Amino acid sequence: MTDPYRTLGTGYATRRRPDPRVAAIIEQALGGARSVVNVGAGTGSYEPADRTVTAVEPSPVMIAQRPPGSAPVVQAVAEHLPFADGSFDAALAILTVHHWTDPARGLAELRRVSRRQVVLTWDHAVMSRFWLVTDYLPEIAEAEQDLPDCGFIGRELGRVRVAELPVPHDCTDGFLAAYWNRPHAYLDPAVRASISTLARLDPARVAEATSRLSADLASGRWQERHGRPDSAGTADVGYRLVSSH
Ligand SMILES: C[S@@+](CC[C@H](N)C(=O)[O-])C[C@H]1O[C@@H](n2cnc3c(N)ncnc32)[C@H](O)[C@@H]1O
Repeated sequence: MTDPYRTLGTGYATRRRPDPRVAAIIEQALGGARSVVNVGAGTGSYEPADRTVTAVEPSPVMIAQRPPGSAPVVQAVAEHLPFADGSFDAALAILTVHHWTDPARGLAELRRVSRRQVVLTWDHAVMSRFWLVTDYLPEIAEAEQDLPDCGFIGRELGRVRVAELPVPHDCTDGFLAAYWNRPHAYLDPAVRASISTLARLDPARVAEATSRLSADLASGRWQERHGRPDSAGTADVGYRLVSSH
C-alpha cells in the first residue's frame, strides 16, 4: 500500500497541534467511555489522557511523530481492524474517513469493535461556501464531491447526532479551514503542506490562487469582502461531529 502521509505527514505534528477547545468538545462526545480506539490516529491528536486508548494508524511517518508516552499504536487500516467484536466502549475517527479506501467498510468496522462511535468530519455544502473555496480554489469543492461527508457517515453509523464544531479564531490545529480569519497563513507553503486537500491540488493552480490572495490582501480587496483579518471569535466553516447513540 502506498502511504500518502510519507510526504503529507512531514511536519504534521508541528502544524497540526490539537486545539484544547476542539479537544473539550470531542471529550464530551465520548461521554463515559473508558476504553477508546482511535482509528486513523496520526500523531495522536485528541487522544484523551484519562481513558485507555489504543491507536490505529497505517502510516509509519505519522507513527514516528507520536510523542513519547502516547497511547500504544497498532499499524493497521480502518477497513480491517485487528480486534474482536465489541472490544471498546468507543471508537474515535478524527478527520480521517475521507482518506480511507473503503469508508463504508471502515465505518462498519468501527461499529463492530465499539459500542459508540465519534467521527469528526465536515459538511461539504457548508465548506464549499468558505472564502478560500469560493474566491480562490473552487476545485476544492469539486475534489470533495466523491468523498464521504457527514450525511454518508451518519447513514453508515445508524442513529447519530450531528453537531456543529465551531472553529476558534486562533485554532492551533491547522486543518483546511482553520485559518478562516488568518488568510496570510495560506501563503505559507509549510501550512499548505500539512493540509491534504491543498497538498493534492495541482501546484500550478495553488500558486496562482495564493498569488491572487496575496495581491488581494495587499490591495485591501480581501478585507472589503471578508472583514478584518485576525478578528476574534469562532466560525462555523462546516466541521461536524457525528456521534452515534
Ligand atoms: C488528516 S490525518 C488525521 C490524523 C489524526 N486523527 C488527527 O486528527 O490529527 C488522516 C490520517 O488518516 C490515516 N489514514 C489514511 N488511510 C487510512 C485507513 N485506511 N485507515 C485508517 N487510517 C488511515 C492517515 O495515515 C493519517 O494519519
